[in-house]
Amino acid sequence: MLPKEIKDRLEGEIKHVEHPRELAVDVMFAIQDHYGYLSDEALAEAASMLGMTPLELDELATFYTFTFREPVGKYVIHVCDSVVCWMNGYEPVRDYLCRKLGIALGETTPDGLFTLLPVCCIGYCDRSPAMLVNRRVHGELTPEKIDAIVEKCRHKAGKEVARY
Ligand code: FES
Repeated sequence: MLPKEIKDRLEGEIKHVEHPRELAVDVMFAIQDHYGYLSDEALAEAASMLGMTPLELDELATFYTFTFREPVGKYVIHVCDSVVCWMNGYEPVRDYLCRKLGIALGETTPDGLFTLLPVCCIGYCDRSPAMLVNRRVHGELTPEKIDAIVEKCRHKAGKEVARY
């Protein structure tokens, strides 16, 4: 069950719109940020807040690239495989990411830190090849840049673990 603070905030936002389903994506993101992904229970919780059926919301959740119906890593890397990135080095970037993380596209690292997924153009063509890490964009990728991004994520995750 969602913490009261998150639930109250979302219900407050829903109250202010004429059609609650307008906020379906925002609500799914908020719930996904809390649980890590949209389990059946989480989806049902979101649907009930929005006055939708779980099936209606599932149709949206499975349509969008950035909502996850299965567990994913703490950091989800979406590497762009559309035409401009492809022309500007998508394949070496993808291969480097796979080697560095020790996984293939569509997989999650055994420590649960990273999931690597392909994505269509993310609108960063002028700085391709590009990728998103938890929806934050990174462009002009090189092995050195990828190393720095991955290490920063590992460092941040390590610090969070050390706090507990
Ligand atoms: S083609 Fe990759 S960002 Fe547009």
